[in-house]
Amino acid sequence: EGDWGLTLRPELLDRAARHFRTVRLPVRWSNHASADAQARIDEAFARRVDAAVDRLLAAGAWVILDLHHYMQLAGGGPLHPHEFSVDESVLEDRLVNLWRQVAARYHNRSPRLLFELLNEPPGGDGPGLGGERGNRLAARALAAVRESNPTGVVLVGPDDWNHPRGLARLQLPRDPNLIVSIHSYDPFDFTHQGVPWRQPPLPRGVGCCDDAQRRQVREALDTATAWSRAQGVPLHLGEFGAYREAPMPARAAYARLVREEAEARGIGWAWWEFASDFSPVWDSAKGRWVEPIRRALGVK
Ligand code: BGC
Repeated sequence: EGDWGLTLRPELLDRAARHFRTVRLPVRWSNHASADAQARIDEAFARRVDAAVDRLLAAGAWVILDLHHYMQLAGGGPLHPHEFSVDESVLEDRLVNLWRQVAARYHNRSPRLLFELLNEPPGGDGPGLGGERGNRLAARALAAVRESNPTGVVLVGPDDWNHPRGLARLQLPRDPNLIVSIHSYDPFDFTHQGVPWRQPPLPRGVGCCDDAQRRQVREALDTATAWSRAQGVPLHLGEFGAYREAPMPARAAYARLVREEAEARGIGWAWWEFASDFSPVWDSAKGRWVEPIRRALGVK
């Protein structure tokens, strides 16, 4: 909250819950907790999250409560401005202890509250949180959730920033109540044109979606669907979106394409994002829908 130019006003939460069945709530727990291995969560911050979660649940939404942007642990890039660093030796224990606290805090909420262990673990078997290390840590975090929350649904995602490519390395703990979360930002040079965190920035003016681009979207979703069938674990498409500097007609075409391809495979989805600064469907400054995106997503 604040970092993405948005304050969670009650009417914003109500609108999200009224128009979407599922709301994914990204929370940077790691930055609102003690720097030691215990990672004691700041109570004032947690109450702020309680208010958002409870308001969304009361409005009837399913809520995916996510652990977002623990950049020092995820290792995919530099720390963010305002992110404090901790001793390397406590990084993993902090994640596990954050989940122990979050799960205990919400253990008596509605079954419509789901937990997502870690947004976008980066890459493969290289440095960072991919492969074996990511699998081991997810298993530990899940065990911490299960201490207070034996059957609630938990989302786990593959490395490579949740791209379906990472599924080949994902080893899930044995647990009947898991959903695997994937993200779809293909074609990346289209969806991420002009984003300031890529230097030099990807060139602007790339359109969407020609045959090759459509194929790219479909192939990734097919990889995920085949994996999901083989493993017997359902999928959720936790993020897709196209940066606001891409041409609007192409963004709307992209939104429609990915939504339809996901729905054709029986995959529920969440657009990134509702009202912040990457690819909003609600313009919070003007208090109105971004119409082409709203229509493409089929939001009533
Ligand atoms: C990141 C955001 C980013 C988006 C698109 C998300 O998972 O947390 O910071 O805007 O992906 O790249």
